Amino acid sequence: MNIFILIISVLLFIQLSECTLSPPKDRNTKKNKGKVETKESPIEQDVFSRLLVVKNPKTHDIIRKSGYYFSNTTRRRFSGEVLGYITPWNNNGLEVSKIFHGKFTMLSPVWLAFSEGNASTYKLSTYDVQKKWLKEIKAANNRSHYVKTNDIIELYSDTKRQLSLISALTDTAKNFHFDGYVLEIWNQFVLTGVDAQIVVTVIQFIAHQLKNNNLDTILAVPPSRGDQFDQLSPYLKAFSLMTYDYSSIQRPGPNSPIDWVRECVELLVPEESPKRAQILLGLNFYGYNYTPEGGKAILGSEYLKILESSNEKIQWDDNSKEHFFVAKLSGGSGIIFYPTLYSILHRLDLAAELGTGISIWELGQGLHYFYDLL
Ligand SMILES: *[C@@H]1O[C@H](CO)[C@@H](O)[C@H](O)[C@H]1NC(C)=O
Ligand SMILES: *[C@@H]1O[C@H](CO)[C@@H](O)[C@H](O)[C@H]1NC(C)=O
Ligand SMILES: *[C@@H]1O[C@H](CO)[C@@H](O)[C@H](O)[C@H]1NC(C)=O
Repeated sequence: MNIFILIISVLLFIQLSECTLSPPKDRNTKKNKGKVETKESPIEQDVFSRLLVVKNPKTHDIIRKSGYYFSNTTRRRFSGEVLGYITPWNNNGLEVSKIFHGKFTMLSPVWLAFSEGNASTYKLSTYDVQKKWLKEIKAANNRSHYVKTNDIIELYSDTKRQLSLISALTDTAKNFHFDGYVLEIWNQFVLTGVDAQIVVTVIQFIAHQLKNNNLDTILAVPPSRGDQFDQLSPYLKAFSLMTYDYSSIQRPGPNSPIDWVRECVELLVPEESPKRAQILLGLNFYGYNYTPEGGKAILGSEYLKILESSNEKIQWDDNSKEHFFVAKLSGGSGIIFYPTLYSILHRLDLAAELGTGISIWELGQGLHYFYDLL
């Protein structure tokens, strides 16, 4: 078995500063003041004026008010870079990206992935690209792209493979009018034991070639690794720091304790420096429901459902700066960690203090009123 699989996901991103997502005019101007039960709609006050950014949020406030967002969706509170991920398996993200496009400087639809395994030919599966959505951004076409490659060692040592990889990436970007790629390459190789220097060299090569074609590269980096920042930073637009999933089913707890987030940033760039603007501190817009049987990640919609049926009080964990609650349901009990306005605000303040940008995983998983904070 070949354990040196090349780039499992090459995500692409779109720089919103340079492109035009059609503004959601119909939504912005629609008023639904009388309708309390409307799920999602714009209103005239933001979450601060509505006094919702609090340490002790009321359960029914979250259930009833989280769908209402400030109508001026182009107002930005956070001044750094904001990258939003969108996944194809969660279509809500497309809708969110259209409503709140003014809040983001970059978007990355997680739509292009090189096939994995031992395939000697791999394909950028552009059929996954949501054409309708793309049309609303820029004209698109649907050509498929094939690159022959196998593993990173081969890529490292084979100039022909390198060039065909680059041309597949640049062709696809050109056809779909993308501005660059997010590479999720670090985890797979460094954690499987490939010499980090080889991975660094390959990333530098890809990023350099993409830059020659006016494309930017963002590197997704796991938390708690700082060693290669200086070697890579001249080549990259940004580092998307995955500061979430701190806890797990084996070790339930907060998803992203705030002191740990700070440490992860400081490990990359220890001293206060403009270099930190290249770091996109990762925020999770999903949560976890830990149950005696294990548990799983949950989206905003599931969170609201559990909140509604258990009707438990939300508690604040001051160490991690996260909210949680204990649900006792007929179907079983669970401890639920899910972000709130208050916990997100702490992280945005931290990012502002450290001088980083942010990245959000992912847009379809949060609650609409979260975006008032950005
Ligand atoms: C939205 O907010 C921005 C920034 O504060 C402001 O420039 C703009 O005029 C506002 N738009 C509307 C429609 O109020
Ligand atoms: C690749 O996978 C196919 C089917 O999954 C298998 O038949 C083949 O032996 C594999 N090749 C290598 C080189 O591992
Ligand atoms: C791609 O576009 C062509 C022409 O626009 C069309 O005939 C074809 O069915 C499309 N293929 C896919 C996979 O959508």
